[in-house]
Amino acid sequence: MSAPHVIQAGNPVLHVLGARPNFVKAAPVIRALDGRVQQVVVHTGQHYDERMSEIFFRELSLPEPDVNLGVGSGGHAAQTAALLTGLADEFTRRSPALVIVYGDVNSTIAAALAAAKLHIPVAHVEAGLRSFDMTMPEEVNRRLTDQLADLCLVTSPEAIGHLAAEGVSPDRAHLVGNPMIDTLLANLDAFDTARARATHGLPERYVLATLHRPANVDDPDTAAALVGHLHGVADLADVVIPVHPRGRATLLAAGLADHPAVHVLEPLGYIDFVAAVRGAAAVVTDSGGLQEETTILGVPCLTVRPNTERPITITHGTNRLVSFEDLVPEARKALEAGPHDERRRPPLWDGQAGPRIADIIMEFLGD
Ligand code: UD1
Repeated sequence: MSAPHVIQAGNPVLHVLGARPNFVKAAPVIRALDGRVQQVVVHTGQHYDERMSEIFFRELSLPEPDVNLGVGSGGHAAQTAALLTGLADEFTRRSPALVIVYGDVNSTIAAALAAAKLHIPVAHVEAGLRSFDMTMPEEVNRRLTDQLADLCLVTSPEAIGHLAAEGVSPDRAHLVGNPMIDTLLANLDAFDTARARATHGLPERYVLATLHRPANVDDPDTAAALVGHLHGVADLADVVIPVHPRGRATLLAAGLADHPAVHVLEPLGYIDFVAAVRGAAAVVTDSGGLQEETTILGVPCLTVRPNTERPITITHGTNRLVSFEDLVPEARKALEAGPHDERRRPPLWDGQAGPRIADIIMEFLGD
């Protein structure tokens, strides 16, 4: 049995980053804590390709990780087990005052669990989101991480209610805004849509697609059905799809690239990707973050999922949930309707989530 963790002056806060969306959320938090507390960045290595990882560190000016655990890919059990072991060793060695975890990926729950077992407090950035779909690995990760977190840092007001319903005391939950949107707003001037068109040989009007959820891309028959509907969208407008490594094999085997108006790309860096999103007439996705980014950019977003943990992107943004069968008719409607008017932004999606999170963390640490 490990000894209780003692918070000492001078102990660092330790950020655990593993997968692509973590990097975008952590950048403003790390920046806002700079000079206020010693910081350690642990990269788990869950994502390891240059295009899934290093390019984000460069573009977002994230500090070089203090260590990369090189955990890599694997089944959920094997990957989570490797994450737990590597992170527990690192936490023991560095004795952080607080472990900060982001989002809902396997690195998030593993870090929260490893820290809790060592009696190290945990802050969870993007707490309380719920799809209520326990077949999604992310929903399992979110629920368990929030049970373990001492600070639940919330991006969307309904999340406070979800946490309360699960017995999380209200004094652990703080509505702070959305750090992914901090990163978006901080880089707005860099998202050059003309350059993205020129770089990727895109026409004036195109649809941008990203699809990587296990439920959509892992099973070859499902992937083939999805590709059929994407080809239907490509009959209406060019479709550009930067392909995540998870879905690559099944989507290509299903003939994704066989339509002349489908442009299959490698995964893009942050700036190039959001520029391509900003210039799109519509987005087709199963990503979580992209539902939020399109909410701010005003780009119509068709989310190919039966549910979303981000309903605020529907009430305040441009997002719609669509079935496979609805994809082509909804894309037609979105293309005919054209760009959206200015929307009411979700509360506190104002580019200041990082500083708010930093203040709460410093208060928790007793300044
Ligand atoms: C993970 C997250 C998901 C998030 C996504 C963003 C979990 C459970 N899922 O999904 O919530 O939306 O990241 O990208 O944590 N691979 C590579 N290179 C890489 C990383 C992955 O080739 O750098 C391939 C490997 O074949 C791997 C597969 O992609 O097996 C899946 O990677 P994994 O980290 O398990 O989950 P993602 O699907 O990326």
